[in-house]
Amino acid sequence: MEPLEEAVQILKQSSHTTAFTGAGISVESGIPPFRGENGLWSKYDPIVLDIGYFHTHPAEAWKVIREIFYDFFGKAKPNPAHFALAEMEKQGRLAAVITQNIDNLHQEAGSKKVYEYHGNSQRLLCPKCGAVYHPIEMDLSTLPPRCKNDGEVLKPDFVFFGEAIPALAATKAEEEASTADVFLLVGTTGEIMPASLIPQMAKQNGARIIEINPGVSNFTHSITDVYIRGKAGEVLPVIAGKLTGKS
Ligand code: APR
Repeated sequence: MEPLEEAVQILKQSSHTTAFTGAGISVESGIPPFRGENGLWSKYDPIVLDIGYFHTHPAEAWKVIREIFYDFFGKAKPNPAHFALAEMEKQGRLAAVITQNIDNLHQEAGSKKVYEYHGNSQRLLCPKCGAVYHPIEMDLSTLPPRCKNDGEVLKPDFVFFGEAIPALAATKAEEEASTADVFLLVGTTGEIMPASLIPQMAKQNGARIIEINPGVSNFTHSITDVYIRGKAGEVLPVIAGKLTGKS
Protein backbone atom coordinates (compact mmCIF):
# COMPACT_ATOMS: atom_id res chain seq x y z
CA MET A 1 0.00 0.00 0.00
CA GLU A 2 1.15 3.55 -0.70
CA PRO A 3 2.29 5.33 2.48
CA LEU A 4 -0.39 7.99 2.12
CA GLU A 5 -3.17 5.38 1.84
CA GLU A 6 -1.72 3.44 4.73
CA ALA A 7 -1.66 6.62 6.83
CA VAL A 8 -5.29 7.36 6.00
CA GLN A 9 -6.31 3.82 7.06
CA ILE A 10 -4.46 4.17 10.36
CA LEU A 11 -5.95 7.61 10.98
CA LYS A 12 -9.47 6.37 10.22
CA GLN A 13 -9.14 3.69 12.89
CA SER A 14 -7.55 6.00 15.44
CA SER A 15 -9.51 7.11 18.47
CA HIS A 16 -6.96 9.74 19.52
CA THR A 17 -4.62 11.33 17.02
CA THR A 18 -2.20 14.05 18.10
CA ALA A 19 -0.16 16.18 15.71
CA PHE A 20 3.38 17.21 16.60
CA THR A 21 4.64 20.01 14.38
CA GLY A 22 7.91 21.80 13.71
CA ALA A 23 9.28 24.59 11.58
CA GLY A 24 8.63 22.63 8.36
CA ILE A 25 4.87 23.14 8.56
CA SER A 26 5.38 26.90 8.28
CA VAL A 27 7.91 26.81 5.42
CA GLU A 28 5.10 27.13 2.87
CA SER A 29 3.95 30.25 4.74
CA GLY A 30 7.32 31.77 3.88
CA ILE A 31 8.96 31.22 7.28
CA PRO A 32 12.41 29.67 6.91
CA PRO A 33 13.22 26.61 9.05
CA PHE A 34 16.03 26.77 11.61
CA ARG A 35 18.28 24.10 10.16
CA GLY A 36 19.34 23.11 6.65
CA GLU A 37 20.75 25.05 3.73
CA ASN A 38 18.45 28.09 3.90
CA GLY A 39 17.80 27.74 7.60
CA LEU A 40 17.90 30.67 10.01
CA TRP A 41 21.01 29.34 11.69
CA SER A 42 22.93 29.53 8.42
CA LYS A 43 22.37 33.31 8.51
CA TYR A 44 22.12 34.23 12.19
CA ASP A 45 24.08 33.31 15.29
CA PRO A 46 21.85 31.26 17.63
CA ILE A 47 23.44 33.09 20.59
CA VAL A 48 20.80 35.82 20.17
CA LEU A 49 18.30 33.28 21.47
CA ASP A 50 20.41 32.33 24.46
CA ILE A 51 18.76 33.61 27.63
CA GLY A 52 22.06 34.63 29.25
CA TYR A 53 23.06 36.65 26.18
CA PHE A 54 19.59 38.24 26.04
CA HIS A 55 19.91 39.46 29.63
CA THR A 56 23.40 40.85 29.17
CA HIS A 57 22.99 42.24 25.62
CA PRO A 58 19.26 43.08 25.29
CA ALA A 59 19.64 45.69 22.53
CA GLU A 60 21.89 43.48 20.35
CA ALA A 61 19.71 40.41 20.87
CA TRP A 62 16.52 42.37 20.20
CA LYS A 63 17.89 43.77 16.92
CA VAL A 64 18.22 40.29 15.47
CA ILE A 65 15.05 39.00 17.15
CA ARG A 66 13.11 41.87 15.58
CA GLU A 67 14.52 41.10 12.16
CA ILE A 68 13.79 37.37 12.37
CA PHE A 69 10.51 37.22 14.23
CA TYR A 70 8.73 40.55 13.82
CA ASP A 71 9.74 42.43 10.64
CA PHE A 72 8.96 39.46 8.52
CA PHE A 73 7.60 36.42 10.32
CA GLY A 74 4.86 38.59 11.87
CA LYS A 75 3.27 39.02 8.44
CA ALA A 76 3.10 35.30 7.59
CA LYS A 77 -0.29 33.65 7.08
CA PRO A 78 -1.35 30.04 7.68
CA ASN A 79 -0.96 27.70 4.71
CA PRO A 80 -3.06 24.69 3.60
CA ALA A 81 -1.24 22.42 6.08
CA HIS A 82 -2.34 24.51 9.06
CA PHE A 83 -5.90 24.68 7.71
CA ALA A 84 -5.98 20.91 7.14
CA LEU A 85 -5.09 20.23 10.79
CA ALA A 86 -7.72 22.73 11.95
CA GLU A 87 -10.33 21.01 9.78
CA MET A 88 -9.34 17.58 11.12
CA GLU A 89 -9.85 18.85 14.66
CA LYS A 90 -13.22 20.35 13.77
CA GLN A 91 -14.32 17.03 12.29
CA GLY A 92 -13.25 15.12 15.40
CA ARG A 93 -10.26 13.51 13.67
CA LEU A 94 -7.53 15.28 15.62
CA ALA A 95 -7.38 15.69 19.40
CA ALA A 96 -4.66 18.31 19.68
CA VAL A 97 -1.60 19.91 18.14
CA ILE A 98 1.68 20.07 20.02
CA THR A 99 3.81 22.60 18.22
CA GLN A 100 7.42 23.68 18.58
CA ASN A 101 6.58 26.72 16.47
CA ILE A 102 6.13 30.15 17.98
CA ASP A 103 4.42 31.74 14.99
CA ASN A 104 0.78 31.43 16.12
CA LEU A 105 -0.23 30.06 12.69
CA HIS A 106 -2.09 26.98 14.00
CA GLN A 107 -4.38 29.25 16.03
CA GLU A 108 -4.81 31.63 13.10
CA ALA A 109 -5.90 28.69 10.96
CA GLY A 110 -8.58 27.79 13.52
CA SER A 111 -6.96 25.04 15.61
CA LYS A 112 -8.35 25.21 19.15
CA LYS A 113 -6.27 22.79 21.20
CA VAL A 114 -2.72 23.94 20.59
CA TYR A 115 0.05 23.26 23.09
CA GLU A 116 2.90 25.67 22.47
CA TYR A 117 5.95 23.76 23.60
CA HIS A 118 8.30 26.66 22.84
CA GLY A 119 5.91 29.53 23.62
CA ASN A 120 4.61 32.20 21.27
CA SER A 121 6.26 35.20 19.62
CA GLN A 122 3.02 37.17 19.56
CA ARG A 123 3.23 37.99 23.25
CA LEU A 124 5.84 40.26 24.84
CA LEU A 125 6.22 39.91 28.58
CA CYS A 126 7.45 42.19 31.31
CA PRO A 127 9.48 39.96 33.62
CA LYS A 128 8.97 42.40 36.51
CA CYS A 129 5.24 43.20 36.62
CA GLY A 130 3.91 40.45 34.35
CA ALA A 131 2.31 42.85 31.83
CA VAL A 132 1.68 41.26 28.43
CA TYR A 133 1.84 43.26 25.19
CA HIS A 134 1.06 42.35 21.59
CA PRO A 135 4.04 43.19 19.33
CA ILE A 136 1.78 45.33 17.14
CA GLU A 137 1.10 47.75 20.02
CA MET A 138 4.82 48.20 20.70
CA ASP A 139 7.12 50.57 18.90
CA LEU A 140 9.97 48.30 17.87
CA SER A 141 11.92 51.09 16.19
CA THR A 142 13.68 51.82 19.51
CA LEU A 143 15.26 48.76 21.02
CA PRO A 144 14.96 47.09 23.40
CA PRO A 145 11.20 47.62 23.89
CA ARG A 146 10.34 48.46 27.48
CA CYS A 147 7.36 47.95 29.76
CA LYS A 148 5.03 50.96 29.92
CA ASN A 149 4.61 50.44 33.68
CA ASP A 150 8.14 50.04 34.95
CA GLY A 151 10.57 50.46 32.05
CA GLU A 152 11.79 46.86 32.25
CA VAL A 153 13.09 45.23 29.03
CA LEU A 154 10.32 43.14 27.45
CA LYS A 155 11.01 39.54 26.55
CA PRO A 156 9.26 37.64 23.79
CA ASP A 157 7.16 34.89 25.39
CA PHE A 158 9.02 32.12 23.61
CA VAL A 159 11.52 29.70 25.03
CA PHE A 160 15.11 30.85 24.71
CA PHE A 161 18.00 28.41 24.79
CA GLY A 162 18.66 27.80 28.47
CA GLU A 163 15.04 28.33 29.55
CA ALA A 164 12.55 25.76 30.81
CA ILE A 165 9.59 24.53 28.75
CA PRO A 166 6.33 26.21 29.87
CA ALA A 167 4.89 23.94 32.56
CA LEU A 168 1.37 23.64 31.14
CA ALA A 169 2.58 22.81 27.62
CA ALA A 170 5.05 20.25 29.01
CA THR A 171 2.34 18.54 31.07
CA LYS A 172 -0.20 18.55 28.24
CA ALA A 173 2.34 17.23 25.74
CA GLU A 174 3.16 14.33 28.06
CA GLU A 175 -0.55 13.64 28.55
CA GLU A 176 -0.99 13.50 24.77
CA ALA A 177 2.02 11.20 24.45
CA SER A 178 0.46 8.80 26.93
CA THR A 179 -3.08 8.93 25.50
CA ALA A 180 -2.64 9.10 21.72
CA ASP A 181 -2.84 5.98 19.58
CA VAL A 182 -1.46 7.90 16.58
CA PHE A 183 1.16 10.65 16.48
CA LEU A 184 1.38 12.67 13.29
CA LEU A 185 4.84 14.25 12.97
CA VAL A 186 5.00 17.16 10.57
CA GLY A 187 8.11 19.07 9.51
CA THR A 188 10.50 18.54 12.38
CA THR A 189 14.08 17.30 12.48
CA GLY A 190 13.72 16.01 16.04
CA GLU A 191 17.07 17.53 16.93
CA ILE A 192 15.99 19.62 19.88
CA MET A 193 15.47 18.18 23.33
CA PRO A 194 13.27 17.87 25.29
CA ALA A 195 10.71 18.34 22.48
CA SER A 196 12.09 15.37 20.56
CA LEU A 197 11.37 13.11 23.53
CA ILE A 198 7.59 13.59 23.17
CA PRO A 199 7.14 11.49 20.00
CA GLN A 200 9.49 8.89 21.49
CA MET A 201 7.32 8.75 24.59
CA ALA A 202 4.23 8.32 22.41
CA LYS A 203 5.89 5.46 20.55
CA GLN A 204 6.85 3.75 23.82
CA ASN A 205 3.24 4.06 24.92
CA GLY A 206 2.11 2.22 21.82
CA ALA A 207 1.22 5.03 19.38
CA ARG A 208 1.70 4.51 15.65
CA ILE A 209 3.93 7.20 14.20
CA ILE A 210 3.10 8.81 10.87
CA GLU A 211 5.62 11.31 9.54
CA ILE A 212 5.28 13.94 6.80
CA ASN A 213 8.55 15.54 5.73
CA PRO A 214 10.26 16.12 2.37
CA GLY A 215 13.52 14.98 3.99
CA VAL A 216 14.48 12.41 6.57
CA SER A 217 14.56 13.37 10.23
CA ASN A 218 15.95 11.78 13.37
CA PHE A 219 12.59 10.03 13.68
CA THR A 220 12.34 8.55 10.18
CA HIS A 221 14.53 5.51 10.69
CA SER A 222 14.01 5.16 14.42
CA ILE A 223 10.36 5.45 15.46
CA THR A 224 8.38 6.30 12.31
CA ASP A 225 5.96 3.60 11.14
CA VAL A 226 4.68 5.33 8.01
CA TYR A 227 6.84 7.91 6.27
CA ILE A 228 5.23 10.17 3.69
CA ARG A 229 7.91 12.03 1.79
CA GLY A 230 6.40 15.35 0.81
CA LYS A 231 5.53 18.91 1.71
CA ALA A 232 3.05 19.43 4.51
CA GLY A 233 0.99 21.89 2.47
CA GLU A 234 0.50 19.30 -0.25
CA VAL A 235 0.13 16.11 1.78
CA LEU A 236 -2.01 17.22 4.73
CA PRO A 237 -4.93 18.64 2.69
CA VAL A 238 -5.16 15.32 0.82
CA ILE A 239 -5.19 13.36 4.08
CA ALA A 240 -7.72 15.71 5.69
CA GLY A 241 -9.93 15.48 2.59
CA LYS A 242 -9.92 11.68 2.67
CA LEU A 243 -10.66 11.61 6.41
CA THR A 244 -13.38 14.19 6.48
CA GLY A 245 -15.01 13.06 3.24
CA LYS A 246 -14.40 16.40 1.54
CA SER A 247 -12.44 15.01 -1.40
N1 APR B 1 6.75 20.47 4.76
C1 APR B 1 7.10 19.65 5.80
N2 APR B 1 8.35 19.64 6.32
C2 APR B 1 9.27 20.46 5.78
C3 APR B 1 8.96 21.34 4.71
C4 APR B 1 7.64 21.32 4.20
N3 APR B 1 7.25 22.11 3.18
N4 APR B 1 10.09 22.03 4.40
C5 APR B 1 11.04 21.61 5.26
N5 APR B 1 10.57 20.66 6.08
C6 APR B 1 11.24 19.92 7.17
C7 APR B 1 12.74 19.77 7.02
O1 APR B 1 13.06 18.64 6.19
C8 APR B 1 13.16 19.56 8.48
O2 APR B 1 13.06 18.20 8.85
O3 APR B 1 11.07 20.65 8.35
C9 APR B 1 12.12 20.37 9.25
C10 APR B 1 12.61 21.68 9.85
O4 APR B 1 13.57 21.39 10.80
P1 APR B 1 14.10 22.45 11.87
O5 APR B 1 14.41 23.74 11.18
O6 APR B 1 15.20 21.82 12.64
O7 APR B 1 12.83 22.73 12.78
P2 APR B 1 12.31 22.05 14.11
O8 APR B 1 12.54 20.57 14.11
O9 APR B 1 10.94 22.57 14.32
O10 APR B 1 13.27 22.71 15.17
C11 APR B 1 13.04 22.45 16.52
O11 APR B 1 14.75 23.97 17.18
O12 APR B 1 15.96 25.97 17.13
C12 APR B 1 14.94 25.25 17.73
O13 APR B 1 13.26 26.17 19.04
C13 APR B 1 13.59 25.94 17.71
O14 APR B 1 11.39 24.94 17.70
C14 APR B 1 12.68 24.92 17.09
C15 APR B 1 13.40 23.63 17.37
